Amino acid sequence: MAKKSYLSQFFKDSREVGALAPSSKSLGRKICSKIDFDKADLIIELGPGNGVFTKLLLERMKPDAKLLAFETNGPFCDIIREKIKDERLILVEDSAEHITKYMKECGLETCQYVVSSLPYTVFPKELKNKILDESVAALNKNGTYLQFQYSLNALKLLKSKFDKVNYNFSLLNFPPAFVYTCTFDPAK
Ligand SMILES: C[S@@+](CC[C@H](N)C(=O)[O-])C[C@H]1O[C@@H](n2cnc3c(N)ncnc32)[C@H](O)[C@@H]1O
Repeated sequence: MAKKSYLSQFFKDSREVGALAPSSKSLGRKICSKIDFDKADLIIELGPGNGVFTKLLLERMKPDAKLLAFETNGPFCDIIREKIKDERLILVEDSAEHITKYMKECGLETCQYVVSSLPYTVFPKELKNKILDESVAALNKNGTYLQFQYSLNALKLLKSKFDKVNYNFSLLNFPPAFVYTCTFDPAK
């Protein structure tokens, strides 16, 4: 999708889209570098937008792995359906609030990674909590939740849901972004 069309989706609903332009491939590669693709049978992506990370994930995923992606914006879903023809991708045109419902419907077990681009800064508190609780329920105990954000606003909330939260700053995006890596204590 051209940057202009991305911008038009932003102006239609800035609280949904949350960014003026798609993320850079460099940011996507940084996120991918945190994933052990040999161990990833199921990855869940939240807010794929026009699919910039979706493509990078699929390029690295095992042939028999699955990518379950949740996107609420219809025009973005159309773009993904048009440009990514890959049987490993299950695109759900619905909110990430319903992750576990769709996992059950698709017969999918717990996942190893959740990769989220959701703009939590502009989300109501209940929505953020619901999506994070669903993500926690979807992940196995060794699973990792990866999130990029333009600020550290989400740090406290993420720390309330996961045992360990690390973050790095990436200048390889406009605007520069924080990448959070959130995990559980497997001994718990
Ligand atoms: C900041 S954009 C990121 C898009 C893309 N991943 C990127 O990095 O360029 C956030 C995306 O989340 C989607 N979104 C917003 N609320 C959502 C929700 N509740 N469930 C699923 N997707 C949602 C928006 O439509 C938008 O495509």
